[in-house]
Amino acid sequence: MKTIKNANLKGKKAILRVDFNVPLLAGKITDDSRIKESLPTIQYLLEKGASVIIISHLGRPEGKKVSALSLRPTAKRLEKLLGKKVEFIPEVTGAKSRERAQKLKPGEVIMLENLRFTPYEELGDPEFAKKLAELGNIFVQEAFSNAHRSHASMLAITKYLPSYAGLHFEEEYKELSKILDEPKKPFIFVAGGKKIGTKIDILRGIIEKADIVLLGGGMANTFLVAEGHEIGKSFYEEDYVSDAESIIRDAYDKGVEVLFPSDVVTAKNVSESAKTEEKDVQQVDGSDIIVDIGPKTISKYAQPIKFAGTIFWNGPVGIAEYAKFSNGTKALAEMIAGDERVSVIGGGDTIAALESLKIDKNEFTYVSSSGGAMMEFISGAKMPVIEALK
Ligand code: 3PG
Repeated sequence: MKTIKNANLKGKKAILRVDFNVPLLAGKITDDSRIKESLPTIQYLLEKGASVIIISHLGRPEGKKVSALSLRPTAKRLEKLLGKKVEFIPEVTGAKSRERAQKLKPGEVIMLENLRFTPYEELGDPEFAKKLAELGNIFVQEAFSNAHRSHASMLAITKYLPSYAGLHFEEEYKELSKILDEPKKPFIFVAGGKKIGTKIDILRGIIEKADIVLLGGGMANTFLVAEGHEIGKSFYEEDYVSDAESIIRDAYDKGVEVLFPSDVVTAKNVSESAKTEEKDVQQVDGSDIIVDIGPKTISKYAQPIKFAGTIFWNGPVGIAEYAKFSNGTKALAEMIAGDERVSVIGGGDTIAALESLKIDKNEFTYVSSSGGAMMEFISGAKMPVIEALK
């Protein structure tokens, strides 16, 4: 992989693609790991005589300007962490960005607005990528956690500029490859988080590699529906129920165990003051919302975790932003922690949950800020964004 260590950076204007898609609660950044991870690369670029134009996406504004998803707060946080001015330009490829980029001097850092405020980013539009590329003269890819998205600023831009991996991108690639090359068996995958939709193909790939898959969170709800269970008003994705069914069948054919919650914690509304109840999944009624896995499920999952050689975990198993619904996530984190097994934790929401639960990240073999990208990588799929840097 070509990295910035192989590049001549003196006097260069480096377009640095980071993933500042950080978790936000009421407009506040709840976890700034992804911003902190970019610091060594930014410092390296500046030390070697480059200037830096930072680009990123935040959330899913679907091609429209959504002020709640402006990158301005992340630029402010970066400025504080870096101890250096980070000038925020409130647009992407307009005249202001072009003029500012033209005048950029070595040692300066600017940051553009959310790339997904235009539809061209997610469409992978080559014209948009070209306009972005024209702002600088080399491209540095630091957004490993977005490497499963072949968007304009991730892939098409590499056609127009000499492109290199940043230090964090390289580290994620190397660490995950090392663990994946010879995973200690049994290999267990814990899949939580909300959405199954964008992870469906990845889950299929994971079934090929894992010995046991443990499900929780919104992800498990879609599988519970596929198994014929009532889940009340809980979040699930109707469009993916038949995919969930086929994954269960494939797993069965391959001898891979897929375990679902056998009991859950339910509430009638999602708030810290909600009254909760523990129920077997068969008892969930039409007015319930599943907010966490229950104690029997925690004990059931404890067994495979205890004997695991390698565990990959992506996604909280309850609505862990609320302390009241985070017992399952906390119990799992405590069981997975420790040096008896190789443990890899991935994803912004999972890290945010660990932070708010005050679980020491050093208790795990490797903590990756990548969620979907980590899953796609371990599923063994060829990722064009990574290939473009080789
Ligand atoms: C992530 O957080 O996984 C990446 O930033 C990708 O975000 P997306 O799922 O909205 O494309």
